[in-house]
Amino acid sequence: PEIPVLTIDGPSGSGKGTISRAVAARLGWHYLDSGALYRAIGVAAGWADLDLADPAALVRCAFDTDIGFRPDAAGEPRVVVNGVDATDELRTETAGAAASAIAAIPEVRAALRDRQRAFRRPPGLVADGRDMGTVIFPDARRKVFLTASAEERAERRYKQLKDKGVSVTLDGLLREILARDARDASRAVAPLRPADDAVRIDTTGLGIDTVVERVLALMHP
Ligand code: C5P
Repeated sequence: PEIPVLTIDGPSGSGKGTISRAVAARLGWHYLDSGALYRAIGVAAGWADLDLADPAALVRCAFDTDIGFRPDAAGEPRVVVNGVDATDELRTETAGAAASAIAAIPEVRAALRDRQRAFRRPPGLVADGRDMGTVIFPDARRKVFLTASAEERAERRYKQLKDKGVSVTLDGLLREILARDARDASRAVAPLRPADDAVRIDTTGLGIDTVVERVLALMHP
C-alpha cells in the first residue's frame, strides 16, 4: 500500500519547521527537513571553498556530500555533513543564503530529488520545504501551504536569533526575508508556490499549538 505523505511548504519564517516537527511527532511519522539538505550542500561548498558562481562544482558537491540526520542524547535532531556535526552552522544566515543560491541550480535540485524521496518510509512522512507538494511528492495525501506576513516572519526570526545571542536588526532581517522570498518565488526551477491542491494557512497572529491542531484536523477529516 502507498505510504502517506503530508507536505508542508512555505516561505522562511512561516513556522514550517516547528509545525512540521510537532505534527510528525503527533502522527508518529518520519520528518524530512528538505531545507537542511540545501543548507548542508551550501555549508559543504563553503568548507571546500567552492565558487557559488560555478554550477558544475556545486552539482558535484551535491552528489558527493554525505548528509545524515541523527538525534543526540536528548533526542534533538543533529545534522552531520561529511562526518561533522554542522547543526549550528546550518542555521546561520550565511548557510541560508548559500542554500538559496545553490537551490536555483536545476541539476542540484535533481541531485537531491531521490534523496528526499528516500525519506518516505512507513508509517508515513511529513515533508517540509518549498516544493514538497509541487515537485517531490505530487501524490501526497495532504498538502499544506503556510504563510505569514513578512513583518511577522522577521520578528519571529529576530526573537530566535536574539535568544541565541546573535546581534541583528529587525530591519535588516526584514530586508533579507523579502530578498529571499523574491529569489525563491522568481527562480525558473521549482519556484515557491502553493500546489493547486494545497490548503493555505496564514499563521500571522496564530500560536504554534493552534496551527498544529489545524494541520492535524486536515489529517482526520
Ligand atoms: O527552509 P530553509 O530556510 O532551511 O531553506 C533554505 C533555502 O533552501 C531556501 O531559501 C530555499 O532557497 C532552499 N530550499 C529549496 N527547496 C526546498 C527547501 C529549501 O529551494 N525544498
